[in-house]
Amino acid sequence: METAKTIESTGKFIAAARKQGKTVGFVPTMGALHIGHISLIQAARKQTDYVVVSIFVNPTQFGPEEDFDKYPRPFDDDLQICREQGVDLVFSPGTNQMYPTQNITWVNVEKLTETLCGRFRPGHFRGVTTVCTKLFNIVQPDIAFFGQKDAQQAVVIKRMVADLNMPLKIQICPTVREDDGLAVSSRNKYLSESERKDAPLLYKSLQKAKRLIQAGTTDPEQIIVQMKNILAQSDRLEPEYIEIVNPETLELINPVKSKALVAVAARCGSARLIDNIVVDTASN
Ligand code: PAJ
Repeated sequence: METAKTIESTGKFIAAARKQGKTVGFVPTMGALHIGHISLIQAARKQTDYVVVSIFVNPTQFGPEEDFDKYPRPFDDDLQICREQGVDLVFSPGTNQMYPTQNITWVNVEKLTETLCGRFRPGHFRGVTTVCTKLFNIVQPDIAFFGQKDAQQAVVIKRMVADLNMPLKIQICPTVREDDGLAVSSRNKYLSESERKDAPLLYKSLQKAKRLIQAGTTDPEQIIVQMKNILAQSDRLEPEYIEIVNPETLELINPVKSKALVAVAARCGSARLIDNIVVDTASN
């Protein structure tokens, strides 16, 4: 496995792979790698010849009150995981490499970034789309792999790639969960033991929504009230939003019919947890 901290050496490694006729798969991450990230790496490994993982805790996607400083950075463990998974190249730039001067050029996807998490994390998606554009330009992959866990991010990135004719495919991989249903996340490390016990209520509330929708409930308010009741079983969970939206446009749907994205965000101690499921009444 190769490692690179600069854009220049990354370019050289990738050019060499291209010269051998290899296709390039790319998994952008902020490190603190877990089985969710590994599932993306494995999808890339299966579908492309040369797998690149980036590890960069991107400052422009964190708000001033958010967890940029305390975000976990277990770099040696991350490298070990990448080695075990047969990654070809790890690109781990420093902030000066990615943002050598104060950034004044931004990529902004409108509308899709103004709902759900966008309402609670102003500027977050602008940071994500800008850094992903930079990373796509640096790595020039054939396919980039993202997780359904961050459903809004996936929709936003797909739309950015389509709107700007970026020459790559975006593939979305399913959410990987712990045995008790909690979506795996680097931020789960912030949970205390008791918070960790209550955190699976998010998934329970999503499962409840799924059952209700499948049983024919079409009133979103009725579904949301029942989800709130489940989250209220813990006084450690403070819901930020519960919404039922169109999985492509992220617009609220009422009545709830055919395909619905049920998305939830809640604070739990110092962690902010998000989760979602897509319910398709046609296929379920
Ligand atoms: P990060 O939170 O490290 O996540 C990297 C990728 O892993 C994202 O595509 C995310 O959706 C996916 N992922 C995280 N947890 C997952 C899980 N439980 N199951 C499946 N996939 C999961 O998302 C980011 O970093 C950043 O915003 C980034 C895209 C790297 C830009 O900085």
